[in-house]
Amino acid sequence: MDKPLVELRNVSFAAQGSRIVEDISLSLAEGTATALAGPSGGGKSTVLKLAAGILVPDRGEVCYRGQNIAAFTRGQNLDFRKETAVVFQDSALWANQTLYQTLELPLRIHYPLMNREERDQRIREMVSEVGYRRDLAVRPALLSMGEQKLIGFARAMLCRPAVLFLDEWTESLDEEAVLRLSALARRFKSEGNTLVFISHDFDLVSNLSDCVIMITGGKVSANVSRDELVRNKKVAGLIEEGMNE
Ligand SMILES: Nc1ncnc2c1ncn2[C@@H]1O[C@H](COP(=O)(O)OP(=O)(O)O)[C@@H](O)[C@H]1O
Ligand SMILES: [Mg+2]
Repeated sequence: MDKPLVELRNVSFAAQGSRIVEDISLSLAEGTATALAGPSGGGKSTVLKLAAGILVPDRGEVCYRGQNIAAFTRGQNLDFRKETAVVFQDSALWANQTLYQTLELPLRIHYPLMNREERDQRIREMVSEVGYRRDLAVRPALLSMGEQKLIGFARAMLCRPAVLFLDEWTESLDEEAVLRLSALARRFKSEGNTLVFISHDFDLVSNLSDCVIMITGGKVSANVSRDELVRNKKVAGLIEEGMNE
């Protein structure tokens, strides 16, 4: 296998006294798309946040380009944040900021020399690509869940990351929006970037991912390549069943 871009080595994570992720090891190769699937409460979002450096493991380590992210310098951490982006399951937009301010913030941080016109142009282009056509001067509470997902996706893409972590990113979207975002994700991958996503949509998973990792009870319960998924009806059936539990 190619050198992994992101690697979890024997990672465990507990919160409020209960073990949520137990001794997980997995690697994600550069330029691939990996789907995390499995039943609700299985630990998918926690694994995604650990891989993205949003949560810190109690045991084990998470490496990015071969280096433990817990040992990053301030500068390395900033580069890592610029190269990676997350769409959260609940979108996690700033409640007390307008959508425009939320979208502007990562550009201000990661492109401090970019002028206001350039920022504005990039924001407008990205928002139009995801298909959000309403006002940007409002706070997220006025948006539907689906619209919040679109803004979350636009925010993630704005700094042109190399890795995208997408948690239930097509949930609450209409069919047209799902098609639009999956086309953007496919283009993102075709440009050599790396995609990690959580979805309960079997068609999306089998069309977009190179491999599917099942997370059940905080552990990896299966790790299946797309070839196997397409070739082996029994494996496909088990994965589909596990996703819908
Ligand atoms: N910070 C936390 N504190 C307590 N329990 C948590 C926390 N985060 C997640 N959990 C619990 O861990 C389990 C796995 O959560 P999660 O990773 O969100 O699963 P999934 O995304 O597969 O639905 C769930 O039972 C959830 O309630
Ligand atoms: Mg989740």
